[in-house]
Amino acid sequence: MLQGFWYLAVLGSRIRPGRTRAMTLAGQDMLLGRRTDGAVFAVGDSCPHRGMPMRHGGFDGDCLRCCYHGWVFRSSDGVCTEIPSVVEAQTTDPSKFRLRTWPCREVQGNIWVYVGQGEPGPLPTVPGFEDAAPQVATTMRFPCNVDVAVMGFIDPGHPAFVHTSRWWKSKPSTSLRHKQKHFEPHELGFRMQRHHLKHGANPYRLLGRNVHIDISIQLPGLRVEHIEGDSHAACVLAAATPISETETDVHYCVYWTPKWLAPFRPAAAWMARDFLDQDRVVAVRLMENQSPPSYLFVGDPDTQVRWWHRLKREYLASAAEGRAFVNPLRAQTLEWRS
Ligand code: FES
Ligand SMILES: [Fe+2]
Repeated sequence: MLQGFWYLAVLGSRIRPGRTRAMTLAGQDMLLGRRTDGAVFAVGDSCPHRGMPMRHGGFDGDCLRCCYHGWVFRSSDGVCTEIPSVVEAQTTDPSKFRLRTWPCREVQGNIWVYVGQGEPGPLPTVPGFEDAAPQVATTMRFPCNVDVAVMGFIDPGHPAFVHTSRWWKSKPSTSLRHKQKHFEPHELGFRMQRHHLKHGANPYRLLGRNVHIDISIQLPGLRVEHIEGDSHAACVLAAATPISETETDVHYCVYWTPKWLAPFRPAAAWMARDFLDQDRVVAVRLMENQSPPSYLFVGDPDTQVRWWHRLKREYLASAAEGRAFVNPLRAQTLEWRS
C-alpha cells in the first residue's frame, strides 16, 4: 500500500456533525469524525494509555473521551487535556500524551486522509465543479488488493463481457468495435487524450451533442473521467482506497451540471451500484482460488495495466532512493476491440 498520498476515506455524507466512524485505511486503524462546527478529523483509534480503541468512547462534538479511564483528547490535534484519576497535587501534564493524527480534509463532498510522512501535496479534485458535492456517490468494498480493484478502471477488454446491463450499452458483447486512443504520461500517471465520443454509452447522450471525453489515471488509484457536451458536463471520480492487503474500498462519485437531472438521482445511484457490483463480482471470483492469480499482459488491451505496475514500481523506487518521481511512460497510441 503506497504511502505519501491523500486517500479518499469516506463519502462526506456518511459522517454527520458530532459523530465518529472507525475505519482502517492503508493498514492504519483510525477514528474519523466531524465536529459540531463541521470540520473533519482523523485520529488514531487507540488510546495512548492502554490501547483501548477510541471508537468505544464518547465524542461531545469537540473532544473524545476514552471509555476505559476517561482520558480526554482534543479532536483537532489529538492532545490529551484531562486525566480524571490524577489528583491535582500530582503535576502530571496531560498534554504530554496524544492520539496519533493524520491530515484530514473534505473537498467536493468527500473526506480525504493523507497517509505518509512529510507535507501533503494538494488534494485531488475533479475539474469544473469547484466545491459541489457529487450528485451520486457510492462505496463498495472489494475483497482484493488495490491493484486488482484498479484493473477495473483501466482494462478495456472487460466491459463488453462484464458490464452488460441493458441500460448501459445497447449492443450485446458480440459486436465489438475497433477503438484507437491516444495516451500520454500525466503527473503521477497517464491520461487518454480528449476525444469525441462517437458511440457513447446511453447516459452520456444527456449532455448534448458533440460529447468529448478525457480520462486520467493517477497513483495511488484515482480515475477521473471528464465528459463535456455542448449543453452540459459531467465528471466521474473513481477512487480505489486500500483498506488492507486484501480489502479495497472503491468509491464512485458522479458530478453533473444539468439541474433537471436531480429527480433521476435515485435511479443513477442504483445504476452506479449495479455497475460497481459487476466489478466487485469479478474481484470475488478472481479471489476464489487458493493460489494467487497469475497475470499475462497481452498486447495493447493490457498495456494500461502494465503501465500501472510500472508507475507503482517507479514510485516505490523514487521513495526508497529519496529522489523525485520520474514518470516512466511515453505517449503512445493503443488499439483494441471493445
Ligand atoms: S486506556 Fe484510555 S484512558 Fe486508559
Ligand atoms: Fe469495470
